Amino acid sequence: MNTTASPSPAIAASTTPLTQDELKTLVGQAALQYVVPGEIVGVGTGSTVNKFIDALASIKDQIRGAVSSSVASTERLQALGITVFDSNEVERLSVYIDGADEIDAHGNMVKGGGAALTREKIVAAQSDRFVCIADESKLVQTLGQFPLPVEVIPMATRRVIQQFAAKGGVGTIRLKNGQPLVTDNGQYIIDVTGLQIADPLAFEAEVSQWPGVVTVGVFAFQRAQVCLLGTASGVKTLNF
Ligand code: 5RP
Repeated sequence: MNTTASPSPAIAASTTPLTQDELKTLVGQAALQYVVPGEIVGVGTGSTVNKFIDALASIKDQIRGAVSSSVASTERLQALGITVFDSNEVERLSVYIDGADEIDAHGNMVKGGGAALTREKIVAAQSDRFVCIADESKLVQTLGQFPLPVEVIPMATRRVIQQFAAKGGVGTIRLKNGQPLVTDNGQYIIDVTGLQIADPLAFEAEVSQWPGVVTVGVFAFQRAQVCLLGTASGVKTLNF
């Protein structure tokens, strides 16, 4: 991992520590440098990406549009006047910009806190470069402290929870208003605690094959090549 730090003038002038929300704004704005003029950009989901989308609106006349990873991001992009393309209309994207729930020193991530992991992995897979934007609380040594999101077909939930139990994990169905949360794809999310994901590639390959698993929230095959990390001393760029 190579690291460079670029303190922002606002930070240098301020003695008050930045809030997590301000760090998200910083990295959202910093991600604009990876957007290629005249092209379509891949856009993730979440509160950090919302800051990026807001920043993207300021250069919307310089891009063709976006491929989005969720209904929520699509609605935000369109409300700001940015054209959203279906992923099937686009062959390759040069860059995909998204947040993470955890990222390690190799660019492997846990994602899906916003329940958008399946579409996120699809858009990441059609992109040449994954630029992760995150505040420094997301940088971990080993993935697994954040409950691992897994999108599953509803009839497989019990069996998948049993398979995680055999690995020492405790899975629960994610709820919304007391009912199972239904994803943009009509499926459920299981959140798994108690895992230590020492080999993210092997873990992702294994769990992805379990019957009924649509997407596991480990992004090792689609890991980040760059992470813009919001820290007290500015935006650090990690290259993997
Ligand atoms: C959504 C995601 C998000 O990227 C992840 O949850 C981080 O979100 P936030 O920027 O709000 O912390 O994977 O499915």
